[in-house]
Amino acid sequence: MKTTKNYHVFSNKRKQWAITIIIYLVVFFFFIWYHDVRGKPFTLFTTEKCTAIASTFCLALALLLGPLSRFFPNLINLLPYRRSLGLTAAFMTIPHIILVFIYLPLKFPEKYSEIYPFSWFVSHWFTIIIGFLCFLLFMIIVRYSYPGGVRKLSKHKWLILQKFSYLVMILIVLHLLSMGKIPKNWLTWIETHDKPLPPGSFPTMIACIMPLLLKVVDLAVYRDSANKAYMTDMEDKK
Ligand code: HEM
Repeated sequence: MKTTKNYHVFSNKRKQWAITIIIYLVVFFFFIWYHDVRGKPFTLFTTEKCTAIASTFCLALALLLGPLSRFFPNLINLLPYRRSLGLTAAFMTIPHIILVFIYLPLKFPEKYSEIYPFSWFVSHWFTIIIGFLCFLLFMIIVRYSYPGGVRKLSKHKWLILQKFSYLVMILIVLHLLSMGKIPKNWLTWIETHDKPLPPGSFPTMIACIMPLLLKVVDLAVYRDSANKAYMTDMEDKK
């Protein structure tokens, strides 16, 4: 069995934040363009979608970095980006949630509040509960991503909590599936090719599945890194 070192940071440098924000914005605007090509021009509706999608991609990148750095040790210097990407992903779900609750019922009254206020949310309660759970778990992980966090929990418990990020990703998959657009919209697109690009949920789902699959391979090769990890603040090392 191969062994590996695990690096964790509790603060990020300005450069890491700047690059993370650029990554977020590139994904966000790419999907704004993507939706535009699919006939949905830039509005608060596409903004609501693309903030959620960009968060998902940032979380996916954060989750990919750990396993990838074990397979490609040159990537070990990128590990501090897991924290900045993860925090960005978590906080940028807030505009998604605000827009969902405030903007969607105003923009689409026939869909969201025709029968009674927020009727869509009531009939799609599972999607909403999963979204809430996902956000709650995200925030618990965020709460312990600061220096005091690891002191409050033991190192081992802290490492286990970090692994719950994979559960966040699984909840995003359930959140997407529970909306009932998959595979219906995908099949419609495959049959008709009515739009130049597949539904936005398709690349988003790939972004969710990739880190989960890679983690399975990682576990098969390296077993659970939490059992043999040691904590090093990269800031202190430099
Ligand atoms: C209280 C919490 C949440 C609620 C009520 C909520 C609600 C919704 C709703 C109603 C949609 C469909 C909107 C549409 O058709 O455009 C949606 C889509 C989505 N949500 Fe959430 N959500 C929540 C949290 C989250 C979190 C934490 C994430 C994590 C990244 C997330 C990721 C997504 C994604 C990726 C989509 C698909 C966007 C698309 O249509 O392509 N949501 N959410």
